[in-house]
Amino acid sequence: MKLFLDTASVTDIRTMWDQGILDGVTTNPTLVAKEGRKFEDVIRDICAIGLPSVSAEVVGTTPEQMVAEGRHLRGLHKSVYVKCPMTPAGLKATKILAGEGTRVNMTLVFSANQAMLAAKVGAAYVSPFIGRLDDQGQNGLELVEDIVQIFRNYHFTTEVLVASVRHPVHVLEAAKIGADICTMPMDVMQKLVQHPLTDIGLARFLKDWEKVPKG
Ligand code: E4P
Repeated sequence: MKLFLDTASVTDIRTMWDQGILDGVTTNPTLVAKEGRKFEDVIRDICAIGLPSVSAEVVGTTPEQMVAEGRHLRGLHKSVYVKCPMTPAGLKATKILAGEGTRVNMTLVFSANQAMLAAKVGAAYVSPFIGRLDDQGQNGLELVEDIVQIFRNYHFTTEVLVASVRHPVHVLEAAKIGADICTMPMDVMQKLVQHPLTDIGLARFLKDWEKVPKG
């Protein structure tokens, strides 16, 4: 499963990229707003790190606006995936952009039927927001299972990008289900790396190593 960071922080992205565990980045208007910098500058800086996939979201609400923004964003860098919201306008824009060869990440997906429609119009990624469903008392991971099953049934090539991830168990379960990608905040990715028994074990090995005769 590919691991993406869900952030617009160039510092955090660089840290995880340097560790060799990062496959891509997703941003959204909320995450970009936290950086206090111009949108295009943030996206260009993230792409310059070398990531093969960087999602940048349109904010227009009509198909025309989304297509125009999507073309502009795609022109910023070859790694850009254009994020379009799962609305009738977003579907129309996705069909046009995908037809031109732009890779679209269809975002704000909350049902399996929405995911199927995204696949039918040629989205490269479909992003179910599982944490926000959990917040509503619905099991977000069950949605991921349904989407993976439907895409397998019909051999859709659209990749399932699990989004709105809150904790490491979301990542573990998404991997067991067979989702293609999981995007997560920095703190969740750091938790994937850490384990207290690793730290305790390493401290003991280093202490014992001091007792080994040297030279
Ligand atoms: C995905 O592309 C979104 O940016 C993100 O996962 C939303 O997560 P949130 O529900 O934590 O805002």
